[in-house]
Amino acid sequence: MCGIVGYVGSDQAAPILLDGLARLEYRGYDSAGIAVVSENKELQVKKSKGRLQVLSDIINGGKSVEGVLGIGHTRWATHGEPNDVNAHPHLSQDGKIAVVHNGIIENYVELRDFLKAKGYVFQSETDTEVVTQLLSFYYAEDSDIFNAVFKVLRRIEGAYALGIICADCPDRFLAARKDAPLLVGFGEGENFIASDVTAIIKHTREVAYMEDGEVAVISAEGVSFYNIMEQPIEKEHSTIDWDVSAAEKGGYAHFMLKEIMEQPEAIRKTAFSRIRDNKVFFEDLSIGAEYIKSISKIYIVACGSSYHVGMVGKYNLERMLRKPVEVCLASEFRYCDPLVDDKSLVIVISQSGETLDTMAALREAKNLGAHILSIVNVVGSSIARESDDVIYTWAGPEIAVATTKAYSTQLVLLNMLGMYFGDILGTLSKEEYDAIMGELLLLPTKMEKMLEDIEDIKHFASDYFNHSSVFFIGRNLDYAMGLEGSLKLKEISYIHSEAYASGELKHGTISLIEKGTLVIALGTYAPLFDKAMSNVVEVQARGADVLALTTESNVSEMRKTVENVMTVPESHTIFQPSLGVVPLQLFAYYVALLRGCDIDKPRNLAKSVTVE
Ligand code: F6R
Repeated sequence: MCGIVGYVGSDQAAPILLDGLARLEYRGYDSAGIAVVSENKELQVKKSKGRLQVLSDIINGGKSVEGVLGIGHTRWATHGEPNDVNAHPHLSQDGKIAVVHNGIIENYVELRDFLKAKGYVFQSETDTEVVTQLLSFYYAEDSDIFNAVFKVLRRIEGAYALGIICADCPDRFLAARKDAPLLVGFGEGENFIASDVTAIIKHTREVAYMEDGEVAVISAEGVSFYNIMEQPIEKEHSTIDWDVSAAEKGGYAHFMLKEIMEQPEAIRKTAFSRIRDNKVFFEDLSIGAEYIKSISKIYIVACGSSYHVGMVGKYNLERMLRKPVEVCLASEFRYCDPLVDDKSLVIVISQSGETLDTMAALREAKNLGAHILSIVNVVGSSIARESDDVIYTWAGPEIAVATTKAYSTQLVLLNMLGMYFGDILGTLSKEEYDAIMGELLLLPTKMEKMLEDIEDIKHFASDYFNHSSVFFIGRNLDYAMGLEGSLKLKEISYIHSEAYASGELKHGTISLIEKGTLVIALGTYAPLFDKAMSNVVEVQARGADVLALTTESNVSEMRKTVENVMTVPESHTIFQPSLGVVPLQLFAYYVALLRGCDIDKPRNLAKSVTVE
């Protein structure tokens, strides 16, 4: 979604802004722009539809824009089509104020009518321009941009992260936040704002996360923070524990491939620091044993791949805890009058920690009295902050839009939570617990071995990349894993793909299977391997071209029926999807590569979906 970066210091601002925006490209955008104030109080706005490179070419990599203070933006269109005029920053009618904005101003129509009646003429179709003109309206009253910002914040409704510069103040700019991420970065004689730390990590790892209702005034010398009552406040500084190399490709052709390869290490980091003497510990959790025992139902709420983690989690947690687990799409949960109460545990899963639907579901569940435990990757994100408990995945920055390492670390953590709760509830025997733990400890090594030899997956990708429609079928954990395999394939290769519980196929969808239809048959869940085989035969009888995935011990059995088989090492059933998903990620990657797709930035998609 949209990205914001802001800079003030002694260096030329424009190249720094362009570099920051380039690091936010992964989030998805359709236009980009910057605004810079020069020392002689001239405000220059440069913006363009399309890739950042177009803007960069127009301004010679930023060199042709003078000034040491500026703001930049990558836009993902909501109000008005992607074009040069609707791109941010938006400039006020008097040419004095420029604004970049993430989020949506809900009462913009009413405010636009108010301003039109005062003689303001609007250039764009955006809600953001309303903020700019309203700022200009109030600035005209006393020429105090600080006052104008607070007056505007009292009138606008909705979600916003705002970066604001004023031509009359060439030494400072302002930022404000409500329901959209924004942080301030502290440097030596220079300071920054960004919607995502990757934009500024090259310059500083010391940051402060802005909270809702806060305003920051940023100059090269320092940053002052204020609450919505305009009172000065102190903010805690945090240090980011990864550096710029983590957000660079490091020799890989794509971030997605790099992140797939990083999975064993990410799992080690996520899991092993929470294991002592072969036991799982979540020391920071506030929920105690009594509360865990009193839970009547567990809800897992998430979107997209995070939801797919929940689908695997349902099977595993119900098995380990003997408590009902319901997995809910966040976008549905918030409107379904959920039967959540203070005996409910709501597990919220989100890589970004900013997904709007997930955030809204969290708030709904909290209002209903549930305890909220979130599994989040981005430290300090909104979901992390609003949860009663947060477990971080510590997967490092995930740049490719299609998630891989975040999915894998979420899955491992959810399973570990099952082990932890199962131990407290006494629903997991010691023998079973130890067996699961043994496999957890082996998981990264097994994954590493798989990633060392991926030639057969590349080969299958070259066999099948021209197919136009694919079905993933599987039962139980294979079905849950298939949902993720199918999403990976469709989102980056644009091949139509569906995942089905194999047993459900014959209730309608099997009518779509015809000669040459590609079916990816998942048979890694050992207890139902025979059933998986009979479904393979069923689709083959209708002419399907089958690519199978199974475990090493079942491969010879599978090969009796299917020629093309991908294999994964054996594990405990709990962790089998963690291994099985890896060839599916790689298959999607190589298919998309052969189809010439923009793998890290698939069309129409954004890394963090902060609109409804
Ligand atoms: C798919 C993908 C998305 C996200 C979804 C939720 O590869 O990445 O489906 O999983 O948008 O995002 P988070 O986890 O940030 O809430």
